[in-house]
Amino acid sequence: MASSGKIVISVDGPAASGKGTLAKALAAKLGFAYLDTGALYRAVALATIESGGDPANFDDVKKVIDNVTHHVTPETLVNPKLRTPEVAAGAAKVAAYPDVRHAVRDYQVEFAKNPPNGAPGAVLDGRDIGTVVCPDADVKLYVTASPEERARRRFEELKAKEPSTTYETVLNDVNARDHADTHRTISPLKPADDAHILDTTTLDRAQALDAAVRLFHAKFPPEADRPAKTKSPRL
Ligand code: DC
Repeated sequence: MASSGKIVISVDGPAASGKGTLAKALAAKLGFAYLDTGALYRAVALATIESGGDPANFDDVKKVIDNVTHHVTPETLVNPKLRTPEVAAGAAKVAAYPDVRHAVRDYQVEFAKNPPNGAPGAVLDGRDIGTVVCPDADVKLYVTASPEERARRRFEELKAKEPSTTYETVLNDVNARDHADTHRTISPLKPADDAHILDTTTLDRAQALDAAVRLFHAKFPPEADRPAKTKSPRL
């Protein structure tokens, strides 16, 4: 447990693995605060683009880093503009700059130490939470699924919104993002040595949540399962 007394759960994994959905559901179930750390990188990319800059140009990105990371609100992280393909591509670029990673890391560490609204713990989802941001997290999950299954799920989500999308395009995108995430020199995606690998290829959302809750309770047993305190004998 963090020295602040708060419980920290890291949920890492590749794109479209379902880690965001799982992390949010786990946080809701436990009454913990939830942070989508990918949204922070997306917010830096969006601010760069909206200021007329290019995420591929570090000088443009540098100008917005402090402003974004010092003024994060719950609304910042759910802005629908963060979900466009242009911002996703920009986020992958800004996530490779050490200055961006440091500023985002400071925000994440503070969130884990002091979750908003006095929550008893925090669930952070991302790529490097268990390895770099919160190496002392109490429970570490690495959520994955086969690239084909991840592409299938993403395709199901997208096909109504973007009828021209094909499964092959989505699979290529999943493979390209895996390559970028795992080959980044700084904080590449990989499971922490002490992470529990949760392969959701054959699990639905409810089964994945059950598995995560079980892993959490293995470390923090629910009250009902804790051994009753033995009364000291009367002398
Ligand atoms: O999970 P996502 O697609 O919203 O992430 C957006 C980008 O940020 C993606 O390129 C990976 C990167 N990222 C990262 O480098 N470290 C994190 N902890 C979270 C996301």
